[in-house]
Amino acid sequence: MSLVELPRVSLGQWPTALYELKNLSRSLGGPRIFIKREDLSGLALGGNKCRKLEYVLAKAQQNGVDTLITSGSSQSNFALQMAAAAGRLGMEAHLMLITGVHNEIQGNLLLHRILGSKVTILDIHDPGDMFSLVPEKMHELAAELQDRGRKPMVVPAGALSPLGTAGWVSAAQEIHDQLQHLEIEMGTTVLANGSGGTQAGLALGFANLGRKTEVLGISVLSEKDQALEVLSDQGLETAGLLGLKATVSRDEWRVQDDYLGPGYGLPTPECLQAIHLVAKTEAVFLDPVYTGKAMAGLIDQIRKGRFTSRDNVLFIHTGGTAANFAYNRELQA
Ligand SMILES: Cc1ncc(COP(=O)(O)O)c(C=O)c1O
Repeated sequence: MSLVELPRVSLGQWPTALYELKNLSRSLGGPRIFIKREDLSGLALGGNKCRKLEYVLAKAQQNGVDTLITSGSSQSNFALQMAAAAGRLGMEAHLMLITGVHNEIQGNLLLHRILGSKVTILDIHDPGDMFSLVPEKMHELAAELQDRGRKPMVVPAGALSPLGTAGWVSAAQEIHDQLQHLEIEMGTTVLANGSGGTQAGLALGFANLGRKTEVLGISVLSEKDQALEVLSDQGLETAGLLGLKATVSRDEWRVQDDYLGPGYGLPTPECLQAIHLVAKTEAVFLDPVYTGKAMAGLIDQIRKGRFTSRDNVLFIHTGGTAANFAYNRELQA
């Protein structure tokens, strides 16, 4: 089914802004840096998962689903976005979250209280288990809810599925139109890679539009080989779903895992410095789990001379700003 034929529910405000960060470029003495403000996508406090949810939840509506179940880490931005969308669509949200770095009622966990989400914090600590152990538990809960007369649907963590990834194939078209309007060629696009669907969809979308921009994912969760495998599988499956002609070959995916630091949810000093720098120079708040690390990666690549002042780089602000409040100690240090 082509992208335009795919059922979609309206949750966000499109297009999100794309503009130049002149102060940041000047302070780094680097390339022209542009930003895509997905943090202003208009669902709750914004973020990259809104586009995925527009396709995933359209299917849920079609199937008469009244209860959504998903997982993530305790401060998961996706879980928050999904819970917020569930409320808009008159559905109930159950979140089975693993124990993360910050489990206090702050940041996204505080917003869940306001939304009235049903949150369970599991005694599971390894983010890797999110895609192995936790799905089992979600399916058990779905069976229980079904016995109680509900119509539940399990949504994979991060909405990592071809339907979710389709949301970012569609974002590629929006960015393509904005760049055409600005008459700008973009050499590189930089973004955080978590579950991988956002990067997979964006690169696939650009490939099908014939846009030659390298899409560089800064991994915040997995080691490079694992991230590349997910991108490759997700790219192929999504191209299959949408009947896309162009695919991204295995050696064309780009991931760097050098900025992960001690692990998922643990900000590096460079990540915290990047958050402060972008806030101070551009009045834009990044986050300590995803975009701060992605920006730290971009800054390091600029300092290492990867880009010249004639290059153009697009940074995707994928959201996550609510997590800053949970990380208040790290950010004050
Ligand atoms: C703020 C933010 N940025 C980036 C990502 C990564 O997106 P993906 O899981 O599609 O790789 C996430 C995922 O949860 C996120 O919350």
